[in-house]
Amino acid sequence: MQFARLPRLRLAGLPTPLEEATRLERLFPGTRLFLKRDDLTHPALGGNKARKLEFLLADARRQGADVVLTVGGPQSNHARITAALSARLGWECILVLEGAEPPEAQGNLLIDRLLGADVRFAGARPAQEVMEEIAAGLEAQGRRPYAIPVGGSTPLGAVGYCLAMEEMLAQASDAGVVVHRVYVATGSGGTQAGLVLGARVLDPSLRVTGVSVSRSAEESRSRVAELATGAASLLGLPVRVEAARVEVLDGYVGPGYGVPTPGCLEAIRLLAREEGVLLDPVYTGKAMACLLDHLRRGVIGEGENVVFWHTGGAPALFAYSQELEV
Ligand SMILES: Cc1ncc(COP(=O)(O)O)c(C=O)c1O
Repeated sequence: MQFARLPRLRLAGLPTPLEEATRLERLFPGTRLFLKRDDLTHPALGGNKARKLEFLLADARRQGADVVLTVGGPQSNHARITAALSARLGWECILVLEGAEPPEAQGNLLIDRLLGADVRFAGARPAQEVMEEIAAGLEAQGRRPYAIPVGGSTPLGAVGYCLAMEEMLAQASDAGVVVHRVYVATGSGGTQAGLVLGARVLDPSLRVTGVSVSRSAEESRSRVAELATGAASLLGLPVRVEAARVEVLDGYVGPGYGVPTPGCLEAIRLLAREEGVLLDPVYTGKAMACLLDHLRRGVIGEGENVVFWHTGGAPALFAYSQELEV
């Protein structure tokens, strides 16, 4: 497939491995299970956002930016990776995190500070609004700020995941494996959007299931569709992705974003003990809880090959030591 070439900074360690989860497979005979290890994208403990930031930060450079801003929760993986890549590029990085400053800097927040990011808290105000205000102030001082919305989920960010789908399908094909299904955690939607678009143009029979960690299925589906259609237009693809053709499940969110469910905690322990792989309590634990549930209930058919897209997030484990106590 010919994609339009967009400016890209090669900042992630790609390709990431596609690994067969052979010990996990023994628990579910008849299904081959693979892990796409985007937890190993490299910058400061890795994760999915590095693929989006290769395009977003190239755009920032093209615009002559000298300071990068973004938003997220105190345990935002996106904020951590943005801070790491800004450090690598020698750019100032301002992170506007939601809510009040937690009493202890743990996990991602600890790493944000180590990376030299200027960390601020939005308090009761929406973080996006605070970020825009800071960016406007910087502009008034003659600086060139580049503000990235939550999760780096813009059409340009999603482009990184369309190419990731191409990468994974090439790896599977080299291994002689036909992939029938992909499972991925869905938050701000850019990751699934890129994967959905990639599947649509490269292998329309491949089913991409997004497991929401926060929003309703309906809201997620339309966000994903909109981002995928926007990414298609940037890539010069005459494709319109309809929300009705996007699959997002919202039955695994539990009490809310960032609150681990029993299924999530079980999934984290199972993958750690069976595969030596660390999931996280906010995203991948919930997505894996869905996959395990589908395997147990026979939602996944005999002979189907499944890729679980490991989007990273393990640094947040340290902020959840009480919930994870064994
Ligand atoms: C570890 C991890 N997995 C999945 C996601 C979800 O990606 P997206 O926001 O593109 O839906 C995020 C987003 O922050 C993340 O940090």
